[in-house]
Amino acid sequence: MFVKNCWYCAGWDYELSQGKHALLARRIANEPFVLYRKPDGSVVAMEDRCPHRQAALHLGQKEGDSLRCMYHGMKFGPDGRCTEIPGQDKIPPQACVRTFPVVEKDNWIWVWMGDPAKADPSLICFAVGPGDKNWNIKTSQVSVNANYRLEIANLMDLSHLTWIHRKTLGGTDAWTRRKTQYTKLPRGINSKFWMHSEPPPAFAQHLFPPGAVFDMSFDVDVTLPCNFVLHFQVYTSGTVTDGPSNGQLMLDTYTSQAVTPRDEDWVDYYYSWGTSVATDVPGMSDMLLEAINAAFLEDKAVLEAQYRNVKERPHVKQVGILLDAGPEKMLWLLDKFLAEEAEGGR
Ligand code: FES
Ligand SMILES: [Fe+2]
Repeated sequence: MFVKNCWYCAGWDYELSQGKHALLARRIANEPFVLYRKPDGSVVAMEDRCPHRQAALHLGQKEGDSLRCMYHGMKFGPDGRCTEIPGQDKIPPQACVRTFPVVEKDNWIWVWMGDPAKADPSLICFAVGPGDKNWNIKTSQVSVNANYRLEIANLMDLSHLTWIHRKTLGGTDAWTRRKTQYTKLPRGINSKFWMHSEPPPAFAQHLFPPGAVFDMSFDVDVTLPCNFVLHFQVYTSGTVTDGPSNGQLMLDTYTSQAVTPRDEDWVDYYYSWGTSVATDVPGMSDMLLEAINAAFLEDKAVLEAQYRNVKERPHVKQVGILLDAGPEKMLWLLDKFLAEEAEGGR
């Protein structure tokens, strides 16, 4: 079900303070763990299960670099080794909690769920975070009661903007007619397409006179497990009808989205959107965030109901259509990684 040798986003860096009670319980790919910050600021990810009687360690307390289980008081260092057992001097070597490699990048906390020896930070996907001085990025998150494969299929086919998001991000049926150029990435797929002389998306139409049209560029990286980074640009409507616009760049934006499978049935979705400082105007990034917040609730409603149907009849024969090309490419890649890991590779 889950690729293990992979960096998974465990949330925004601001969710984890130095506070006394800042112990964040997370579950990724069906592994429960607790996150906390050491006094030097670095983050520890430790299995949320005491090796004594399986008490949840996120109910414990921080002590310097260490975490103490508050059931019978065993204390664990940031490497997971037990350093103290109340009432005894001898510490058995198996009194040890699994820890996971952690990296903070682009204001996201990334956790490696597989073999620690293979945890190469250069495998973390490119993203633009709220800490980037060249961008005015706003952040949010949502949880969805659906399997992450449905999210992959959703994000690999943006024609759903015409339908699910017709009142928010959507526009015309040009979405279903667009010509997408796909390029293979080491751990994903890049899709690029242009739309010419299109009205603004529904959420921005009130900003322009009726009939206003623009050229828009979409450049999306979708990488394993389910990270989606879109460089979205708006140009004044030029004269070309194919390929890059010859209009003027009006709005330059990035949206970075990490869809992390919690388990088979849930995903935790951490996302952002915002403009470049060069093309920003006050309130613009806030409006983008409002739009995407509303849109992701629309996706949530559709995907949760779809997932209920899929669970009820998992083997029902489904009809294929042309728009499935993108989802099928990414799900094929996921299955390839899963098969390779099952055979001991990657
Ligand atoms: S369950 Fe943690 S110390 Fe007993
Ligand atoms: Fe959507």
